Amino acid sequence: MTEYFKYQQAQLYVESVPLESIAQRYGTPCYVYSRAALTDGYRQFADALKGREHLICYAVKANSNLAILNVFARLGAGFDIVSGGELQRVLAAGGQANKVVFSGVGKTEEEMRMALEAGILCFNVESAPELDRLNSVAASMGKVAPISLRVNPDVDAKTHPYISTGLKQNKFGVAYTEALSIYRKAAAMPHIRITGMDCHIGSQLTETSPFIAAAEKVLALVDQLEAAGIVLEHLDLGGGLGIRYDDETPPAIADYAQSLLNALEGRPHKLIVEPGRVLVGNAGVLLTRIEYIKHGEEKNFAIVDAAMNDLMRPALYDAYHAILPLRERDEAAQHYDIVGPICETGDFIGRGRELAVTQGDTLGVMSAGAYGMSMSSNYNTRPRAAEIMVDGVAIHVIRERELVSQLFAAEKIIA
Ligand code: LLP
Repeated sequence: MTEYFKYQQAQLYVESVPLESIAQRYGTPCYVYSRAALTDGYRQFADALKGREHLICYAVKANSNLAILNVFARLGAGFDIVSGGELQRVLAAGGQANKVVFSGVGKTEEEMRMALEAGILCFNVESAPELDRLNSVAASMGKVAPISLRVNPDVDAKTHPYISTGLKQNKFGVAYTEALSIYRKAAAMPHIRITGMDCHIGSQLTETSPFIAAAEKVLALVDQLEAAGIVLEHLDLGGGLGIRYDDETPPAIADYAQSLLNALEGRPHKLIVEPGRVLVGNAGVLLTRIEYIKHGEEKNFAIVDAAMNDLMRPALYDAYHAILPLRERDEAAQHYDIVGPICETGDFIGRGRELAVTQGDTLGVMSAGAYGMSMSSNYNTRPRAAEIMVDGVAIHVIRERELVSQLFAAEKIIA
């Protein structure tokens, strides 16, 4: 729990607002974010990097609500995007195109055109064929595309295999051993301008050493490039800093940033980072109400109104999220599996949790600000949750709860 979510008189608060009052007024399931927590995370990053030319490109995929993007844009953030859709969100939220880096292994021609039209800072190119395509799209528009190559450093991020991206067997980036020759090719392309080098090795890293190992490999390659006469303006060391969900002990933002600065000491390049989770993860909570308590033969179930469509992380990665009652009770606690209404055994939010709760109580699923709403779906024709941002005592609805009618509005019955 962070300082922005805490109990006062047995009630869980976000900033100055009891979460239960939000659940009552706006219904559940709903995501609630603390603006102060968002701002604080960004400032910690910016302060830690103050002495060096840098750009913090918030990874939009972690949480792409316009209000959240707008908070970061106003703080001066850039953005890391992975689709044309995310670019449109950034622009709609007041973000600046010239602070956008575009990552992803499958950029379409249309997405390239859109990004060139908008004038983004850099394409993080992930393969030789992508480079060819970008050169020809830029040529057709009479433009020059700024690029870095995303290099796969073959470093073990020591995280969940689904979110580890910097190993040889992963689909991301260009092979370390081929990077130099692809850079040479890029240098000869008339509609490509080399501006940097990029790497991102994975997400929810709880140690600094893999980041440093990756940075060192990047720097060794930078030396080879410079010897070949290719000079870079920036180094993008990606995102991936983990947060505390349970008992993890990830490095503090300031320590992580300092170790990147140390690794880059004596280098003239502008530093770009692409943090997602660490800026939003612990700034958000998912509120959910207990519909039923069910005592099975072997287990107790708290059946809640949030499900795997709202928060997919437990089902997909067996991820742990702390689950807290919004109002503490004196009764004895029991063990529960906290499960949703979806017809799959994988539809759980948490298992074997000790809670003193009863039917009708509301729970907070903690650390849900990153990859919660942004990975939600409409499975089982469930409208997506409302989203709320709290700012001191003020409560703002930043996304209305979806209506079922919206879910099938684009569908047609045929004759
Ligand atoms: N940059 C690139 C190129 C990325 O692919 C990612 C995340 C980030 C930055 C931001 O990483 P972060 O700082 O948030 O770790 N859905 C998973 C996480 C997937 C991360 C994908 N890439 C989860 O819920 O744990």
